[in-house]
Amino acid sequence: MTLLVTGGAGFIGSNFILDWFRDCNDPIVNIDKLTYAGNVANLSSLHNNSKYVFEQIDVCDSDALNAALLTHKPDAILHFAAESHVDRSIHDPESFISTNILGTFRLLEAGLKYWQTLAPKKRQSFRFLHVSTDEVYGSLGPTDSAFCETTAYAPNSPYSASKAASDHLVRAYHHTYGLPVVTANCSNNYGPYQFPEKFIPLMILNGLSGKAIPIYGDGQNIRDWLYVGDHCAALRLALHKGVPGETYNIGGKNEVANIDVANKLCEILDELRPQASVLPHKSLIHFVDDRPGHDRRYAVDTSKIERELGWRPRESFKTGLEKTVRWYLDNAVWLDNVSGRTYEDWVNKNYGQQEETL
Ligand code: NAD
Ligand code: DAU
Repeated sequence: MTLLVTGGAGFIGSNFILDWFRDCNDPIVNIDKLTYAGNVANLSSLHNNSKYVFEQIDVCDSDALNAALLTHKPDAILHFAAESHVDRSIHDPESFISTNILGTFRLLEAGLKYWQTLAPKKRQSFRFLHVSTDEVYGSLGPTDSAFCETTAYAPNSPYSASKAASDHLVRAYHHTYGLPVVTANCSNNYGPYQFPEKFIPLMILNGLSGKAIPIYGDGQNIRDWLYVGDHCAALRLALHKGVPGETYNIGGKNEVANIDVANKLCEILDELRPQASVLPHKSLIHFVDDRPGHDRRYAVDTSKIERELGWRPRESFKTGLEKTVRWYLDNAVWLDNVSGRTYEDWVNKNYGQQEETL
C-alpha cells in the first residue's frame, strides 16, 4: 500500500511515519507546508529510504494536491495537517480557518476526484483517514460521562470549531459522494518531537532552563493524556480495519489535572537532573492568567475502538512521561533548534503581559 500523509513533519505525523517504517516498508509520501510546527529534521533518519518521499505542499493548494495524487497514486490518505495550538487560535484564528477548514475541503475535493478515477477494487479499499480531536465535543463537568462517538459537538475555541467544521465536511463527503472516510477523535498526546508551545514540552524546556512553569488559572483543568505511539497504533488500525463513514474516539483513560501533571514532571526532572540550579523544580511553578474560554475537563470513552478494532493503549502515564523527559534530555540540539527566534516571538506574544509574574 502507498500512503499519502499530510502534515507528516509535525509532532504526531513524524511519530506516525517513524513508527510505520519500523514495522513495515510500504511507501509513504509526506506532504507538508512546513509551518513553524513542521520540521523535516524529525525524519532525517529516513534520508536514504527510497520508500519515503517528501513534498512541500500547502493543503490549500488544489493544483499541487491534484498533481501529487496523480504522481504517487496512493491507496489511502492520512490527514494530519492542521494548525493545532489552541492559544495560537485565540491570537490568530484566520490561519486555523484557512488550513483546518479550507485545507481539508481542498484535500477532500482532490481526494474525491482522484478516488473516482480508481478501478472498482481500488475504490473499495481506498481510505481517507481524518485525524481529529476530542475538543470538538466541548467541555465536561466533574461528573459528566466521558465523550463517546455520539456526543453532540460543542466546540469552544477557534481551533476546536475549525476542527469540528472539518469533521463535518469529511462526514458529508462520505454521505454525499460515497468517499470512504474514517474519522479519529483523539485526546491530548505527549511524547518525542512535540513543539514546546504545548504544555508538557513547554514545562520540560522551562524546567531545564530554570524558567517559570506557567499554569493557567487554578491548574485544575483536566486532560486525558495519551502517549503518541499509542495514538499512532490506533490510527494504523483505523486505516486497515476502520469502517467507512465511522468515527472512533481515542484516549488514554488517563484524566489528570494540569497541576498534577506539572508536579509529576518536576519530580522526574529532580530525579534526572539532580544538579540543576533550581531545585526542587516545583519551585518554578507559577499560576498565571487563565486561557480565555479554557475547557475545564476532557475524558474519552474508548470502548468502541477497543471493541471493534481491538486497540488498547500500551504506555502508562508514568512510563510514558519518563520516556518523554529522557527523550528531550537526549535531544537538546533538537530542542535548541526549535526554540529559536520564532519560538521566542510566540512566547512573548502569549505570555508577554504576564512577564512580571513569570
Ligand atoms: P503539529 O502542529 O505538531 O503539526 C502540524 C503539521 O501540519 C506541521 O508539520 C505543519 O507544517 C503542517 N501544516 C500546517 N498547515 C499546513 C498546510 N496548510 N498544509 C500542509 N501542511 C500544513 O500538530 P500535531 O500535534 O502533530 O497534530 C496533528 C493532527 O492531530 C492535527 O490535525 C491535530 O488537530 C490532531 N490532534 C492533535 C492532538 C495533540 O494532542 N497534539 C490530539 C488530537 C488530535
Ligand atoms: O485534546 C486534544 C487537543 O490537545 C489537541 O486537539 C490539540 O491539538 C492539542 O494542542 C491539545 O490541546 P490543549 O489545549 O489541551 O493542549 P495544551 O498543551 O495547549 O494545554 C494542555 C493544558 O495545559 C490546557 O488545560 C492548558 C494548560 N496549559 C497550557 C500551556 C501551554 C497551561 O496551564 N500552561 C501552559 O503554558
